Amino acid sequence: MNTPSSILDAIPRRLHLQPDHPLTITRKLIESRFPGYKAHNDLFPIVSTVQNFDSLGFPTDHVGRNRTDTYYLNKETVLRTHTSAHQADTFRANESEGYLISADVYRRDAIDRSHYPAFHQMEGARTWDRAQAAKEGKSLAEIIWADVEKIPKHNVVVEDPNPTIHAERNPLQATHSAEEVEAIAAHLKRSLEDMVITIFNAAKSATGTPDTSSEPLKIRWVEAYFPFTSPSWELEVWWQGEWLEVLGSGIVSQPILNNASVPDRVGWAFGLGLERIAMLLYSIPDIRLFWSNDSRFLSQFSEAGPIKTFVPFSKYPACFKDVSFWLQAKKSAAGGAGAGASSSNQPPATTSSDSATSTIVPPAAPAPTTPFFHENDVMEIAREVCGDLVEDVRLVDEFEHPKTGRKSMCYRINYRSLERTLTNEETNELHERLRELLVERLGVELR
Ligand code: PHE
Repeated sequence: MNTPSSILDAIPRRLHLQPDHPLTITRKLIESRFPGYKAHNDLFPIVSTVQNFDSLGFPTDHVGRNRTDTYYLNKETVLRTHTSAHQADTFRANESEGYLISADVYRRDAIDRSHYPAFHQMEGARTWDRAQAAKEGKSLAEIIWADVEKIPKHNVVVEDPNPTIHAERNPLQATHSAEEVEAIAAHLKRSLEDMVITIFNAAKSATGTPDTSSEPLKIRWVEAYFPFTSPSWELEVWWQGEWLEVLGSGIVSQPILNNASVPDRVGWAFGLGLERIAMLLYSIPDIRLFWSNDSRFLSQFSEAGPIKTFVPFSKYPACFKDVSFWLQAKKSAAGGAGAGASSSNQPPATTSSDSATSTIVPPAAPAPTTPFFHENDVMEIAREVCGDLVEDVRLVDEFEHPKTGRKSMCYRINYRSLERTLTNEETNELHERLRELLVERLGVELR
């Protein structure tokens, strides 16, 4: 068990179902572009490691399984790290040709304005039945191409320079034909382009959007990798001067469908992070705001009217404080939060190569002299002590003693409330408590 009560407290919030919440509005806007897809918005967040990893073909040594990255309730039970945890079960239920799943997901991660350990994803999939095609005397590709024609057309410039299939980088699965995959890929791309163009056009017409929005919309497909799709792609959007990843997608791994007792079905799946989309749709500057009960935040969103840019109600002052410490010496037996738990020293990563859904930047791998230290343990302690009063935690200095080989780290904690001005006393107390807990849990030595 490495799940603090502050994380468990997020479970009953169900922000993606809260009326007039920006995540609800974003979810509904996306759902409106997938008519006929069955929406599942109520799936329970506690899942087995089989659901979250094994059923999707994650290798047993995948970094996403580490205790440093994932919240465990016991050895075989986790808080889902992505909505894909429900793919196998949803395919098995076989209730509809297309489905969407929106849900809260949980990852141990960095602290900054676009990362929060609880966030929301939306996942979707569309499959076709080979047996049904045979019955109709048609090829599967023919049926899929007819469905591609039903997707609304657009005139946005799409860059898509890579071949659908690439033997090394983006291979065809053994049981699929190139003809089928070309058709499925076309359906995937047209469907997701339609959805993303709808969202970004809504964001552009939101009042008060900066000037750069007058640039015409541009999107592009790039090759990607996920353990549970092949070939795979990410969709990026040119937004305020840079390419922004908005979703991951691909042709569903056939073993997932075979194991879900629907071996005749083939299709595509995608996943995206709802906060990331909502933040740019409304220009929301800090991910903590989604969890706010402050009416100055909540009153600005309505399911009824058009999307209106969020007007920040506070610029309360920030307060930086540094904490420096020596890491535990090598081979020390005592356990901290992550001590002895992670079986490897690999750097953290998301559960996939995809950062579109969560914007994860992996920190540098721990040095060999520090076998048990993981930055996410510092993040966790900062969350526990400060709750939403911490805006950002950053490594500002790292240094190895030339003689002893001991390593020293310095983190800068940025304290700021979104709702009021923090007093000096208050931040001093938080910082003092943080220092104590670092020693207690991680066995570090303060400098
Ligand atoms: N589950 C992936 C993630 O969390 C996203 C994804 C879903 C990619 C479905 C492909 C297909 O990053």
